[in-house]
Amino acid sequence: MSDPLAFLDDELRALRESGVYRWPRELAGEQAPVCVYDGRRVINLCANNYLGLANDPTLKAAARDAIDAYGVGSGAVRTIAGNMAIHDELERRLAVFKRTEAALLYQSGFTANAGTVSAILGKGDVVVSDALNHASIIDGCRLSGADRKIFPHKDVAAARRCLEEARGARRVLLITDGVFSMDGDVAPLPELCALAREFGAIMMVDDAHASGVMGAGGRGTVEHFGMHDQVDIQVGTLSKAWACLGGYVAGRRPLIEFLMQRARPLLFSTSHPPSVAATAIAALDLIERDPGLIDRLWDNTRLFKAGLARLGFDTGASETPITPIMIGGEAEAMRFSDRLFEEGVFALGIAYPTVPRGKARVRTIVSAGHTPQDLTRALAICGAVGREMGVVR
Ligand SMILES: Cc1ncc(COP(=O)(O)O)c(C=O)c1O
Repeated sequence: MSDPLAFLDDELRALRESGVYRWPRELAGEQAPVCVYDGRRVINLCANNYLGLANDPTLKAAARDAIDAYGVGSGAVRTIAGNMAIHDELERRLAVFKRTEAALLYQSGFTANAGTVSAILGKGDVVVSDALNHASIIDGCRLSGADRKIFPHKDVAAARRCLEEARGARRVLLITDGVFSMDGDVAPLPELCALAREFGAIMMVDDAHASGVMGAGGRGTVEHFGMHDQVDIQVGTLSKAWACLGGYVAGRRPLIEFLMQRARPLLFSTSHPPSVAATAIAALDLIERDPGLIDRLWDNTRLFKAGLARLGFDTGASETPITPIMIGGEAEAMRFSDRLFEEGVFALGIAYPTVPRGKARVRTIVSAGHTPQDLTRALAICGAVGREMGVVR
């Protein structure tokens, strides 16, 4: 009998031959600024654990206490029987944090974007989207059936042309990442919000990489630019600065009520284990109580960026803790990442299709948990490998 999945062997061979086949490195022990991947102790410049909270003792205790009090699972989809008091409490806290009327928890940032866009738009609607928006936004747009108009990255004039073309559509959504995940640059939010207003479009911002990182108290790019009254839908994630898992939408109450009725991840996928919601609340407590956490993240970011600049690396347009080391060629970027790993630094090589061809890079992220010594050592290794490979002189 022939194997109906035999085509997978051909697909995998093609991936291996083109050099883009990947299998993730294995982490032993805790997610930490210095930790052990594939048996090697490395300075970890890969994780989105911005504030170093992934193994914070108070967060661990909150998770344990919630297991003791509420068990390990919610038992059902939120809209059936899986809506626990701790989910509601987390949403109330997130709404206050984001200065919105209400918030809605999703299982991940991915489902928050995909579930929200596909719930509010349908055939005959138009979505106007930055070319470098996250995959979950792209999938949400596809699922919605709306027409897509993609404007070149951060090109406000092109966004305007897309909105002009969309005139007459039933609904128009203008959507952007707040901080772009592969480049670490920031959306031109004031200009985009002004366009949304002018054209009567819904304005949506994915602040996955800005929540806990940018804006007063870590409230994100919407707070950073003072755009609260001009952004209709804010998305955040609990899997990056919050160091656990989940996503959320923050906005006006009718939006949240509508999404509870119509967003498919809410209707068809089980809600968070209570321990995860408790962890997120504990993280929010820490973030609200200790502004020094975010200060440490930015001190480390400045130290590391200045070091890379002194060494002569091209870090693109980054303005945030996500700092790409631009390499260009795909094989070279992968080789650079591998050599860093051999020398004790874990920083991932990123190539097409995640970034455009010719723009392969090694992506670094520092955290509040790195010590200045960790970063000085990481810089020394980056410099040595960069010179060895001819990336810098
Ligand atoms: C910009 C952006 N939005 C959304 C997500 C998805 O978030 P999560 O990992 O919580 O699903 C990510 C992360 O991968 C991201 O980088």
